Amino acid sequence: MTKLLSSSPEPSTASHKAFDDTIGAPLWLLAELTYRCPLQCPYCSNPLDFASQQKELSTDEWRDVLHQARAMGAVQMGFSGGEPLVRDDLEELVAEARELGFYTNLITSGLGLDEARILALRDAGLDHIQISLQAADEEMAAALAGSKKAHAKKLAMARAVKAAGYPMVLNVVLHRHNIDQIDKVIALCVELGADAVELANCQLYGWAHLNRAGLLPSRSQLDAAEATTQRWRQQLAAEGKDMRLLFVVPDYYAERPKACMGGWGAIFMTVTPDGTVLPCHSARELPMTFPTVREQPLNSIWYESFSFNRFRGDEWMPSPCRECDERHKDFGGCRCQAYLLTGDETATDPVCDLSPQHGLIEAARAEAAADNRSVAELTPRNKRESQVFCRE
Ligand code: SF4
Ligand code: FES
Repeated sequence: MTKLLSSSPEPSTASHKAFDDTIGAPLWLLAELTYRCPLQCPYCSNPLDFASQQKELSTDEWRDVLHQARAMGAVQMGFSGGEPLVRDDLEELVAEARELGFYTNLITSGLGLDEARILALRDAGLDHIQISLQAADEEMAAALAGSKKAHAKKLAMARAVKAAGYPMVLNVVLHRHNIDQIDKVIALCVELGADAVELANCQLYGWAHLNRAGLLPSRSQLDAAEATTQRWRQQLAAEGKDMRLLFVVPDYYAERPKACMGGWGAIFMTVTPDGTVLPCHSARELPMTFPTVREQPLNSIWYESFSFNRFRGDEWMPSPCRECDERHKDFGGCRCQAYLLTGDETATDPVCDLSPQHGLIEAARAEAAADNRSVAELTPRNKRESQVFCRE
């Protein structure tokens, strides 16, 4: 289960001096403004115990985070959650970020958006809006999101975003219950006038890991979906349509792991709603304590904290990563995935076919193949379910 965070400051690593010149600046800041969300997708990557979070950062605290991150060299930022639109200071924070020179991206379900708010965000200087869709049809979307109204609202907001002059980027999280709809999903995105579509197979963290056996598609589903995507790419090119289709395969069907976040503490940092600072959006699931901006400046967290230095470099790596030529390309894979699968955050990511624990991936695929749960039988991501994990 996920570990609750201690509120005490973590020790700094004596061996790392501030502004260590072997550590690059963080280029990306993900501001998870809130864990509140009107939807309850069973593949959400938020931590299982999100209901135990401390009070959300105030507007002024977020402003301070933005200033600190920009002063450290961060240039790109995403506003996400939960659903970031439930924060009524979102426009204010976007304006502040823009004023500081960030390139800003809003990652949203579209719920909480309306035409007035789209214009207000545009006036605030928001560069980019990415809306997520659950499925091609209302019935499946409602079953996944736990809301009958969400699908129609998302479609209306996608059209409104396009009408306001934004490039329309749609994101569809794929899993075994919607992947066979991919032809209709892409047709819907074409009809909406999308400029880019990310067809991202669900990565198995947080609630998605909890529901893993009921979400992982089969190899044949995956192959068929990739072939359909390729057919659409050719058709769109033949018609002279410039809609980009990105298909992201699930790690569990890869032979080698991804270079997660471009390396631990290399370019990316997430600040969670209560100000906890993480090297990736899922690191709260690790059995480690992470510092918060309420206790420590961001600069010191990035360069000096034990948690950010824990998996930098290659000294921490076990065999076979330690002797492997790939170790500076994939950094031994994803720490969160290694922990969720093996219980050891220092293990080689079992996705790697050189890992002595690669059999866990094969076992997970077999477990998924034997799982017949419907969408309604998956555990929804909501506060009531989260409170169960807060008590454990
Ligand atoms: Fe990457 Fe480690 Fe596998 Fe080598 S052994 S490919 S470094 S995960
Ligand atoms: Fe945390 Fe990969 S998601 S290190």
